[in-house]
Amino acid sequence: MKGIILAGGKGTRLYPMTKVLSKQLLPVYDKPLIYYPLSVLMLADICDILIICTPYDISKYQDLLGDGSNLGISISYITQAEPRGLADAFILGEQFIGNDSVCLILGDNIFYGQNLTSILNKARYNKQGATIFGYPVKNPCDFGIVSFDENNNVIDIEEKPKYPKSNYAVPGLYFYDNSVIEIAKKITPSPRGELEITSVNNSYLKKQSLHVELLGRGMAWFDTGTPEGILKAAEYVEAIQTRQGYYICCPEEIAFRKGFVNKLQFISMGEALKVTDYGKYILSLAKEGFADADDIH
Ligand code: DAU
Repeated sequence: MKGIILAGGKGTRLYPMTKVLSKQLLPVYDKPLIYYPLSVLMLADICDILIICTPYDISKYQDLLGDGSNLGISISYITQAEPRGLADAFILGEQFIGNDSVCLILGDNIFYGQNLTSILNKARYNKQGATIFGYPVKNPCDFGIVSFDENNNVIDIEEKPKYPKSNYAVPGLYFYDNSVIEIAKKITPSPRGELEITSVNNSYLKKQSLHVELLGRGMAWFDTGTPEGILKAAEYVEAIQTRQGYYICCPEEIAFRKGFVNKLQFISMGEALKVTDYGKYILSLAKEGFADADDIH
């Protein structure tokens, strides 16, 4: 399976913070925002990753993450000149996806929770159709919303409905079979002028090949599209990391735990950052080993 991180967009809701810096490079507590979706793909064992960003920002992403080889993965890049919509990812990424299935994650979405790895694995090995998620929110007008009938069958998905039929938002993490490329090519722009991911999901629903997995209250999901969203996510990361001593979405740690890199490579990544708590954390893991080797977070 291939992975795509959509990290373009103008970030206008975050101006002036994002006037000269891509939203997904802003810090969320102690690491750039893009580390969080990158970590989720790595937790799903997805090692071939495409980052879609603006032409203006591509060199910054390349400086930050390179070709991914230091993490034992492959990262390539493609630019999106204008934010034409989330489904544009499959048109721009057609060659990259090839004949494979694909997982799309939005560059501004953060996921964290005890069963995340098993949830990702289940979605990943669902070979046919699409798997998306539903997550209860208090502000359903701000998201794609999935609604159900009395037997819990999905009725439809609406993008930012004025009158939401449920409070289940669809987070920015989507698993698709290869037909997503053709589906994305066929959809037409919405009234706001975007190729909506919701249209893609409704196409799968029409073909009866859409799986919706509900995420429970043990899962944390943040959409960091506003200054408040970034702050809330940062506070959460800080609270958990300080309390537990485990880092949330540290790609170096995941690379080591998953065996993408060996101990020497892991130590050298820690050495490069050793004046920071982040680097010290990596070095301490290398020295002490993992107390919870089975529980990758
Ligand atoms: O966060 C989940 C929500 O994400 C879903 O519930 C919605 O169904 C989905 O449409 C999307 O809504 P947003 O309004 O949050 O999408 P936004 O325009 O903020 O874009 C999400 C990310 O994708 C953001 O990091 C910028 C990037 N992006 C967006 C567009 C439209 C691109 O890279 N290219 C694009 O063309």
